[in-house]
Amino acid sequence: MGHTIFRREFVSGAAALAVMPNVIADIDGDGRAVLDGEARKKKTLGQFFTKGSCWLQPQVADFIRNSKCHIAYDPFSGRGSLFASVTNAVSSIMDTTGLDIDPSQGWPVNDSLIKIPHKSGAIIITNPPYISKYSASRKRLADGLKKYFDLTEYDDVYLIALERMLEAQKNVVAIIPETFINSPFKKKNLLNSITILEENPFTDTETPVVVVCFDSCRKPFSKIRIFKGSEYTCTLQDVEDCRLVPENSVRMKFNDLDGWLGVRCVDSTNPSDMLRFDFKENIDYNWEKGIKVSSRLLTLVSVDVPHNKRQAFVDTCNAILNDVRERSHDVMLSPFKGNMKNGVRRRRLDFQTCRAIIEQAYERIIAGKKSNMVQQTL
Ligand SMILES: C[S@@+](CC[C@H](N)C(=O)[O-])C[C@H]1O[C@@H](n2cnc3c(N)ncnc32)[C@H](O)[C@@H]1O
Repeated sequence: MGHTIFRREFVSGAAALAVMPNVIADIDGDGRAVLDGEARKKKTLGQFFTKGSCWLQPQVADFIRNSKCHIAYDPFSGRGSLFASVTNAVSSIMDTTGLDIDPSQGWPVNDSLIKIPHKSGAIIITNPPYISKYSASRKRLADGLKKYFDLTEYDDVYLIALERMLEAQKNVVAIIPETFINSPFKKKNLLNSITILEENPFTDTETPVVVVCFDSCRKPFSKIRIFKGSEYTCTLQDVEDCRLVPENSVRMKFNDLDGWLGVRCVDSTNPSDMLRFDFKENIDYNWEKGIKVSSRLLTLVSVDVPHNKRQAFVDTCNAILNDVRERSHDVMLSPFKGNMKNGVRRRRLDFQTCRAIIEQAYERIIAGKKSNMVQQTL
């Protein structure tokens, strides 16, 4: 049965108090009672609701239209926030229907991480809960989520949700963390497109997200398009082709206070201070105080390069890094929370990629081998 958003029974005020023994902490922008139980449900059920319609970029709306489905189906409905944008923008969607595990949301109750019932003529449009196995254990939520993680090889709830969605429906649109692009999800070849959202569709989290559209038709990665907002950037294959894998051919040590090579491994919010390689003394940072074994945002690397070749070495590392950023439109690097002041998403350089870059620079500067990529960009 279709279930329009306007018929959903929103539990608020006194009714909410009847179902949840919480105190009203505040009133939100829509005049609804905000309970301090909401903080608890954010933590345990991932109740971060999508605001506005920046996620519904033209190619996503086209995908929904081309699916020929007439029902928008959200198996993790929450407040049903996604439905209004869809019914406003895509006239072929005539009805909406939802499920949620939390009875107070007013939808039929279903555990959609275990099974999602199939609905004929429906396209799933959702923003499922996200939480990694690692965060779950840090936040002491592991016991509650064990039954889901025990059934899967994946280490984040949103990947389990994607599996269930693709079992239920052919067409799926989901707002999920951008880390999906670098994840080991096995059904990426059923994707139609990935849209990176640099505008944040949430008011209460800065998790960098993408909108994935699945049509369940198997295809090579060279046919899967990646957009930033409404702009086409490259294919998923282009991103795969940029991946750098270290061979462990050069001895180096990360987070070594005796190292001479400084690496800013994350873009700052200032676009003129982006991630880069440099002499330790050229990066404004208190290395002695800041560097620990666990440091990941800035690091000092000890690698054996003669003094007279160090400037060329640094320049080569940066040339390789910038080449990869440019060719993959940044997508190969993991996102880091928030944007730079120019609105571009901040990126993080992981140690594996950093090691691979240092190895390639070493080959070129010390071993004298000519790498095509470096020759092109220097
Ligand atoms: C991130 S919120 C998104 C809600 C809505 N889709 C939106 O975009 O605003 C995720 C929703 O999934 C619900 N949820 C969490 N675990 C669930 C499960 N196992 N089965 C069904 N719903 C679940 C939460 O209660 C929450 O309402």
